[in-house]
Amino acid sequence: MTENILVAVAWPYANSRLHLGHVAGAYLPADIFARYHRMKGNRVLMLSGSDQHGTPVTIRAESEGKTPAEVADSYHQLFLEDFKKLGISWDLFTTTRTINHEQTAQEIFLKLLDKGYIYKQSVSQPWCDKCRRFLPDRYVEGVCPLCKSSNARGDQCEQCGKPMNPADLIGARCRACSTPPVYKESEHFFLKLSVFEQPLLEWVKSQPHWRANVQNFTKRYLQEGLHDRAITRDIDWGVPLPLPGYAGKRLYVWFEAVIGYLSASKEWSKQSGDSEAWRNFWDGKARSYYFIGKDNIPFHTIVWPSMLLGYGGLSLPYDVPANEFLTIEAQKFSKSRNLAVWVSDYFERYQADPLRYLLSANMPETSDTDFSWREFVRRNNDELVSTYGNLVQRVLTFAYTRFDGLVPDASEIDAASQVLLGKAQSAFDTVGKLIGECHFKEAIRVAMTLAQEANRYLDEKAPWKAIKENRQEAASSLYVSIAVITALKTILYPFIPFSSEKVHGYLGLSNSIENDVWKFIMPQSGTKLNRPEVLFVKLEENVIEEETDRMGLGAS
Ligand code: MF3
Ligand code: ZN
Repeated sequence: MTENILVAVAWPYANSRLHLGHVAGAYLPADIFARYHRMKGNRVLMLSGSDQHGTPVTIRAESEGKTPAEVADSYHQLFLEDFKKLGISWDLFTTTRTINHEQTAQEIFLKLLDKGYIYKQSVSQPWCDKCRRFLPDRYVEGVCPLCKSSNARGDQCEQCGKPMNPADLIGARCRACSTPPVYKESEHFFLKLSVFEQPLLEWVKSQPHWRANVQNFTKRYLQEGLHDRAITRDIDWGVPLPLPGYAGKRLYVWFEAVIGYLSASKEWSKQSGDSEAWRNFWDGKARSYYFIGKDNIPFHTIVWPSMLLGYGGLSLPYDVPANEFLTIEAQKFSKSRNLAVWVSDYFERYQADPLRYLLSANMPETSDTDFSWREFVRRNNDELVSTYGNLVQRVLTFAYTRFDGLVPDASEIDAASQVLLGKAQSAFDTVGKLIGECHFKEAIRVAMTLAQEANRYLDEKAPWKAIKENRQEAASSLYVSIAVITALKTILYPFIPFSSEKVHGYLGLSNSIENDVWKFIMPQSGTKLNRPEVLFVKLEENVIEEETDRMGLGAS
């Protein structure tokens, strides 16, 4: 049965380039998942966009002496380039600065207001006497009351993920001038989160398929008690309030950005020529998966679901497979300390698939994992080059040169061959189930064991020897090996699509790999092969030193 699957992916702030943490945290797992479901024949809608409003962008603009719009536009362009190189297969990657998004956000605001889930209240807001202005959350810094990290911001503690009000911070100070803020009255709109505490608790308890960390974090959060939160800010960059008399205020960036999942669905729908098509992904029958980093969990398991419950008639998330963090060379990502690998830098020297492979095999699903250049080189050389690449090379080159460039005839499929073919067959079920349940790391491990098995089989059969006495026998084992390679290029496609596309070409398959289905299809004897080329390039050991030097870690 064809299913509708919404693949909703975190919207990156348009204030910085993408780094490997973003890729491992959200974009790669979402892409693997989407590619798999498309091959299963499901209808997939994979979307996201750049998160262009709020203080993340204004702070950046101030420090670069540009307008927020200039900053947002330029990072949006960079995102598009990075995603193309990475092979992230969006159905739509838009921005929060479209008319469609503004209207959708305002419509939700008004409906929630109308239904009594949003109310007005005068609150005292941090005000910096020296800067002569209200301080948005991110302009206030201090100590986190929960984990005591000293650089927590007024919107969220980066260290422990706790969402914050500036007043929660211990020793709050103005980010720009370090003056402790004073408080002044300002009228704001609040989202009545408190009324959703019980319904959400019930809902979360009925989601046994969620990852334990997501489930536990959300429950703990709800059990501590849900408090209403202000969803407007004294700022002039963002979605205006759809009410007269609030010119100096905008919708809070988080309130508005999560609405992007819905507005982007509508935008895609209009573009597709059927302006109602978006409903198929929001009607309660579709399953929606939100791929995000763990710092975004509360906005996706509490705030957005509350908004959806309040609004009514739209599906809640089916799953929120949030990933943990990726450390770099065993250290926490840090822009200021240059402890980051920027996607655009990576592509100056390397290809997409070795990175996609490493980050899949080492995905931070249940705990933080580490990216190191040593591991990058090792996995590339030992696993992609020596295991998978070598299998493809040996088999296809031999068939190409010694069997007239055709897929050989298989006259006798012996017991060992049967066993291997059986493994290829069952890999579709095992790997498919794992991807479907968002266990990507285990999925790629299982897929690679099939390549190992095939290498072992090939060593045993040694067609390059067998051919001297028994051409039939050599032909059969080559045929079986080609069958397994055919299976592998499909199974590995969600993870390493660029090399799968190449292998698809070597195999002489004329249709596009995008038409592949998630099914073991035996090759046709007599199919004309194309001359295989090098699939993966071996990396020299000195890459490790070169790259760690670049990050200023050379001496260690
Ligand atoms: N821009 C946020 C971040 O980078 C993520 C927003 S996800 C959204 O942390 F759905 F709310 F947009
Ligand atoms: Zn100040």
